[in-house]
Amino acid sequence: MDVKTVGVVGAGQMGNGIAHVFALAGYEVKLNDISAEALDRALGTIGKNLDRQVSREKITEAEKQAAMDRISTTTVLTDLGSSDLIIEAATERETVKTAIFEDLQPHLKPTTILTSNTSSISITRLASRTDRPEKFMGFHFMNPVPVMQLVELIRGIATDEETYHSLLKVVESLGKTAASAEDFPAFIVNRILMPMINEAVYTLYEGVGSVRSIDESMKLGANHPMGPLELADFIGLDTCLAIMNVLHEGLADTKYRPCPLLTKYVEAGWLGRKTHRGFYDYRGETPVPTR
Ligand SMILES: NC(=O)c1ccc[n+]([C@@H]2O[C@H](COP(=O)([O-])OP(=O)(O)OC[C@H]3O[C@@H](n4cnc5c(N)ncnc54)[C@H](O)[C@@H]3O)[C@@H](O)[C@H]2O)c1
Repeated sequence: MDVKTVGVVGAGQMGNGIAHVFALAGYEVKLNDISAEALDRALGTIGKNLDRQVSREKITEAEKQAAMDRISTTTVLTDLGSSDLIIEAATERETVKTAIFEDLQPHLKPTTILTSNTSSISITRLASRTDRPEKFMGFHFMNPVPVMQLVELIRGIATDEETYHSLLKVVESLGKTAASAEDFPAFIVNRILMPMINEAVYTLYEGVGSVRSIDESMKLGANHPMGPLELADFIGLDTCLAIMNVLHEGLADTKYRPCPLLTKYVEAGWLGRKTHRGFYDYRGETPVPTR
């Protein structure tokens, strides 16, 4: 299956990044959201991020313009019907995702590949609710999409080889690298990363180290570019907690028990950078540890 046109559903943080990288790689992109404001915001963000690439001389002004011209937006989901590939990047709620695929299905070509960017919902279960489980895959981009090199490709139990190979080719054409993961909770990256972050929160909770000493230790002692608590603030503490809960419930092993201190930060609404407070307070000039 030769993919030329891509329909992206959901124009949030991930959807705008996905539209950005596909348009830059030469695909015609239709971006859909239920909110017209989200679509306007997404186009603004894509423009700003492309400008940054121009100023860093990664792309030319003409390439930026051509990429912008390849993106069209719509609040009508069925406008995406003619796409060769659908990438669903809407809100992380199973009923939302299932409804999107159900509404789209009657308008699609039989060859269209369906994918979801979900971080935690079973690909096999989502696929089983569509008319083409063999042409359904998890297509898990990392945040921020234009910057991160990796894409996880997750096969559901029914996904066929042709679909997998088509998506491998697509990932290559984006200049990114694919890792294949089986369809188990949190796939590969989050399965390994989140328990590490959770353990850092336990280390803080038990008083083994302060926010600063934990982050410094992992930066200077393990050569991580960011400390685990700083990274948790960047990802969003609510997202970290949600993924730990998916691991805990999905694998039924107490080693994935979310740290009570992580729960407490989320209860306080201290979700990290997006709310200006988490393990660090971002309201001043420089981030100040909150513990
Ligand atoms: N944020 C991350 O770091 C990250 C990383 C990898 C994967 N993901 C996954 O990507 C998906 C999107 O996450 P996000 O962070 O971009 O969320 P977000 O909240 O920034 O954006 C979601 C968008 O979906 C739209 N939406 C909701 N229902 C819709 C519908 N029925 N049709 C069309 N649009 C609809 C919302 O209006 C919103 O603009 C989720 O499945 C999430 O698990 C997120």
